[in-house]
Amino acid sequence: MATFSKINFKTLNYNSFRPHYPTSFYKILTEYATKGDLSKLPLEKSIDLGCGTGVATYPLLNTSKEVFGLDLSLSMIKTADSLIESRCKELGIEDLSRIKFRAGAVEDFLYTEDKSTREIEDGSVDLITAAQCIHWFKDYDAFFKNSHQLLKKGGTLSYFFYIDPVIVDFRVENGTSLSKEEKIKILRRSKQLYYDFVYNDPASWGPHWENPGRNILKDYCQEVNQSIPTDLYEDIKINTFLPDFETGNTLPDDSKELDLKKMDIPLNGFVNYLTTYSAYHSFKEATGDPNNSLEVFVKKLESEFGWDRNSTKVDLVWNTGYTFLTKK
Ligand SMILES: C[S@@+](CC[C@H](N)C(=O)[O-])C[C@H]1O[C@@H](n2cnc3c(N)ncnc32)[C@H](O)[C@@H]1O
Repeated sequence: MATFSKINFKTLNYNSFRPHYPTSFYKILTEYATKGDLSKLPLEKSIDLGCGTGVATYPLLNTSKEVFGLDLSLSMIKTADSLIESRCKELGIEDLSRIKFRAGAVEDFLYTEDKSTREIEDGSVDLITAAQCIHWFKDYDAFFKNSHQLLKKGGTLSYFFYIDPVIVDFRVENGTSLSKEEKIKILRRSKQLYYDFVYNDPASWGPHWENPGRNILKDYCQEVNQSIPTDLYEDIKINTFLPDFETGNTLPDDSKELDLKKMDIPLNGFVNYLTTYSAYHSFKEATGDPNNSLEVFVKKLESEFGWDRNSTKVDLVWNTGYTFLTKK
């Protein structure tokens, strides 16, 4: 997964434009990891693989004494490191040595690194997380086997993801009121325009996704789930939430689903999120983006629907999923 490692990739934009996992999700994860017995907190050690700028790593400090984040991209790790002081302050944590980041590939760290020199011993980890990255890892059999070795007995392996936000509602400033059917027609069309722009149009970003990673994610990580070795893990919990404005099932139940949404944000917030797509950066690099593809897309939304990027407010809900496993 090369794009996020490029020196010019804007990791701070990534950190602010990407959705952050809600407290409700950490509650679900913590309940699973402690098997409902919160007296087991704090956990001794958690590690976050493919940690990026630390979006999912810092919150682990709420439940774990020591937290370690690993990422392939040096620029992501530099940003994660640069946030230690401010993020720990926000979390009320004084001992900054409780969190450490390191640049490196998961495959080197887990599968091949000399265990006598690796800073984390086998059988010592309570919780491993891999947020929005497992689709990039190689060799799932090796991943599950080596994660199993790193975990304590009864420890938790968890991976979770989000993909393709759906505009499930919108409000146009001074706009005429629309019937439910008229709204759904616009939402359906906006979804189609998004998919054409991001995946289907061969002249757009579609051919620039790195695969098999993106296709695994588009398939809600089923390929990863199918590789889970049931002789090594038990209590397997798999959950997905796919927003559907056609049926009205647009809001996840935050007590059991990874509830990722940005409500009532300007259309521009959606556009900013799109700038963090790896395919956007690969497309720009390959073609120079002579027509400013993203601008063309936004103008299309504005002209077709009478939207305005600053004043039109949208509700975005992501397709999400998670898998939790317990080491036997
Ligand atoms: C989409 S970002 C997710 C970052 C963060 N976990 C989050 O939830 O925002 C994917 C991250 O996985 C990292 N990554 C991809 N393949 C990796 C690998 N084989 N080993 C370590 N990190 C990897 C990338 O460098 C990137 O920072």
